[in-house]
Amino acid sequence: MSTAAINPKGPRVYPAGQSPRAWADTYLASTVGQKILVGTTGLLLVGFLIGHMVGNLKMFSSPESINKYAYFLKHDLGALIWVARGGLLALFVTHLVLALRLRLAARAARPVPYRVMKTAQATLQAKTMLWTGVVILAFTVYHLLHFTLGLVHPASAAAPDDYLTQRVNLQQAERNLSPGSAVNYLDLKDDAGRHDVYAMVVAGFRTPYISAIYLVCQVLLLVHLSHGIQSSLQTLGLVGKRFTPAAVALGWAVAGTIFVGNVAIVAAVWAGYVK
Ligand code: HEM
Repeated sequence: MSTAAINPKGPRVYPAGQSPRAWADTYLASTVGQKILVGTTGLLLVGFLIGHMVGNLKMFSSPESINKYAYFLKHDLGALIWVARGGLLALFVTHLVLALRLRLAARAARPVPYRVMKTAQATLQAKTMLWTGVVILAFTVYHLLHFTLGLVHPASAAAPDDYLTQRVNLQQAERNLSPGSAVNYLDLKDDAGRHDVYAMVVAGFRTPYISAIYLVCQVLLLVHLSHGIQSSLQTLGLVGKRFTPAAVALGWAVAGTIFVGNVAIVAAVWAGYVK
């Protein structure tokens, strides 16, 4: 039964404390409501990571394949790409802010730490969620500056007879740059005139310290997700307490798949399999 009265001359009038706004305020003030939102946004972000990893595996197919896919996402989707980016940002911010609020509230509830911490139940992954989360956030900012905005590293030619070298040389010629000059990642173009995401990723991971940053962050992502997935499934009541081992196994399986897929791309560039 709706409790809202219809006011023909204006907006709906709700009895005190029953408006959607009041409901949201109460929900967000409760620990359970916040935990449910952290779990839901976390699982939706995992969905993005799976999709992103599967899309990136086109690196193993051909430059044409990944460049066409990236072009489709950026140009053919029209305004939808901005809706998706806005949604992704909202998920990130909600997840982060509520997780931090919960952590601060838990700390405020017990300002004096336990003298003896009996955390036999809490795994290392559970205890480090905040820190792995903060590093993943920093990594995401770096990753956007690196591949989406092309602001942190330029590409330079590497070995002769190599796809990347060819692309860099073409740009140098087109822009009247001297041989050996570095070229912005976003200026690399394929034969169809599209942004050459393939050459950009190869250029990125050929630089040892960049690969090292990515690899370390993939390990932290694995640690964060392995616990986060299991915990979200249980908070949302999707997997009962009786099935904790199954939830833990599922968490590791999904986190492990994302890890293997992402690391395979870095490793393939290093091994010269993707060049
Ligand atoms: C080795 C692993 C990864 C590779 C090779 C990779 C590759 C890329 C590339 C090439 C782009 C730019 C696409 C374009 O401009 O057309 C991109 C964008 C992006 N990546 Fe990754 N990525 C990896 C891991 C990750 C991880 C772990 C996260 C999140 C924690 C992430 C989050 C994003 C986001 C948010 C964008 C921006 C999407 C947009 O433009 O709207 N990526 N990635």
